[in-house]
Amino acid sequence: MDSQVKSCRAGFYDLPVLTLLFGNDVHPGGVPLTRKLAGSALVGRDDRVLDVACGRGESARVLAEQFGCRIVGIDYSEESIRRANELTEDVGLTNLVQFIQGDAERLPFANESFDVVTCECSLSIFPDPLLAITEMKRVLRPGGRLGVSDVVLNQPLPETLKDLLGHVLCISGALSIDGYRDVFSKTGFSAIRTRDVSEVLGDMISRMERRIGVIEDFLDREQFELANSLSASFSSISAARDFVMSGGAGYALITGKKPIAN
Ligand SMILES: C[S@@+](CC[C@H](N)C(=O)[O-])C[C@H]1O[C@@H](n2cnc3c(N)ncnc32)[C@H](O)[C@@H]1O
Repeated sequence: MDSQVKSCRAGFYDLPVLTLLFGNDVHPGGVPLTRKLAGSALVGRDDRVLDVACGRGESARVLAEQFGCRIVGIDYSEESIRRANELTEDVGLTNLVQFIQGDAERLPFANESFDVVTCECSLSIFPDPLLAITEMKRVLRPGGRLGVSDVVLNQPLPETLKDLLGHVLCISGALSIDGYRDVFSKTGFSAIRTRDVSEVLGDMISRMERRIGVIEDFLDREQFELANSLSASFSSISAARDFVMSGGAGYALITGKKPIAN
């Protein structure tokens, strides 16, 4: 797909308003879910870990601190990588954590360079998830593990969520749970396991609603236009809540293992 489209999709998460809404980790479940994903993918101290679409690198820092493992994060957005490096320097973790700008669909690493690959809330926004998973498998060593967390679509998406908000919440490109299983098995992963953690989606929407309220309350009259555009951009948030609450979308951890002999 055209690199301009990819830049646009990635650059979107650098918008200041999204930083205000999400903070540094742009996925439902925050740090606790990152730890769960790492547990499911059996991350250990001696592992070389790759976090694909790492954003500002919060998860990479959390895992390096928890396990003492070496982690590389890759993201399409140069701005996210710049911030990720800055934040990592601030906390003195540059000996373990490194960030590189690059495309999930063309990973700039040699075959079999990592023990674990993670990808949080991002597979659903790549133009070609099958290609991205094929790349993740290529860079994993035999016996290496892949851990993905993402939105699961259980029902057809309502028109109201086919807009900006659907994209921000990673709903519009999400797959069904069988769709994720399919992508994992088509690319040759074994021991595929899924774990339903849908409760984190409702929590994230509530957090966004609260933050929108706080931001609007703090804006003065001169900033009225910004307040208006904020409300307009996210006017369909209640549609997202209804869709999630009615079981239309959920959230899952999906893990798989690269077979030793292929
Ligand atoms: C929803 S955010 C998730 C960020 C991070 N994984 C987290 O959980 O905080 C999606 C991320 O995917 C990145 N992204 C989008 N398209 C990409 C691509 N083709 N290759 C690498 N990163 C991409 C965006 O820049 C953004 O940082």
